[in-house]
Amino acid sequence: MLQRPRRLRENDVIRRMVRETRMDPSSLIYPMFVMDGENKVEEIPSLPGQFRYTVDRMGEKLESLIRHGVNSVLLFGIPAVKDESGSQAYAPDGIVQRAMTKAKEDFPDLYIIGDVCMCEYTSHGHCGILHERAVGNQAELHPRHTVVDVDNDPTIRLMAKIAVSQARAGADMVAPSDMMDGRVLAIRQALDAEGFDYVSIMSYAVKYASAFYGPFRDAAGSAPAFGDRRSYQMDYHNIREAMKEAKTDVEEGADIIMVKPAMSFLDVVARVHDAVDVPIATYSVSGEYAMVKAAAMKGMIDEKRIISEMAVSAYRAGAGIYISYFAEELADLMREGYIG
Ligand code: PBG
Repeated sequence: MLQRPRRLRENDVIRRMVRETRMDPSSLIYPMFVMDGENKVEEIPSLPGQFRYTVDRMGEKLESLIRHGVNSVLLFGIPAVKDESGSQAYAPDGIVQRAMTKAKEDFPDLYIIGDVCMCEYTSHGHCGILHERAVGNQAELHPRHTVVDVDNDPTIRLMAKIAVSQARAGADMVAPSDMMDGRVLAIRQALDAEGFDYVSIMSYAVKYASAFYGPFRDAAGSAPAFGDRRSYQMDYHNIREAMKEAKTDVEEGADIIMVKPAMSFLDVVARVHDAVDVPIATYSVSGEYAMVKAAAMKGMIDEKRIISEMAVSAYRAGAGIYISYFAEELADLMREGYIG
């Protein structure tokens, strides 16, 4: 027998020598929630083991991340007050802006990424400014009526304003997650015009309308008050559309393209990786974390082995960057050589 694939699985030395997927902690990003208030660290009920931090207490977590070798954070702000136009998203003294400035002061080497969206800041929980829009025609099957929907162009102007406010506060990178058309270009132009041409853009270019975001919406209080996000986030039956979204965003100036969620969308990660020549990130979202935690807490699965398989499969599919609530645990596993 000439071919004997098992020869290369004989022991740990050879198994590791021939590994096709290599990872290290520098490829991890940790998503983190900061909230208004003082001296508070609150556990998020839908994400056991994950917390919301006030600005004066977030340093504890940042220190721990750095100790584990995780040097990048994706910050989400939870403001004390929300309004129709999400004005706290771009307020110079908004929660996320204050968090960025403090984090940069205390941890100058930390790489800070800001989530750019309005859903955590609007009273209605949608990702932008709402308007009434006429749809349908006169035909009986599709009678003319109005829907309330996110108004694309005024929203992208606000996205640009949020991005600039975060850059001013110290963000190294901005990550628009709203899925409006044309926002990457609007953000790039606004950043450049303000002298922030070195601030990069990681676009949530391929973001599916997904039930996997459920726990996050509890964490951020950002569930839409009515309707859903299907008129702006992608239908999970589609993959060719993902190529279009990714290519458009690269043309508009995105430096990194993200596919989200991760676990159920690895075919999309692989295809997008082949379709565009920028680094690919994938976000293992709150629902993925919550499912693992719930099952592990009941003793039904082995958490360490499950998160290892989830992470490695994302890299194997083509992701170079992995955004995960398990970033610290994964960094340890990578350094120990358990994975990667
Ligand atoms: C904001 C945003 C969401 C997530 C990241 N940015 C929520 C949503 O689109 O409803 C989800 C992240 C997660 O579930 O961990 N638009």
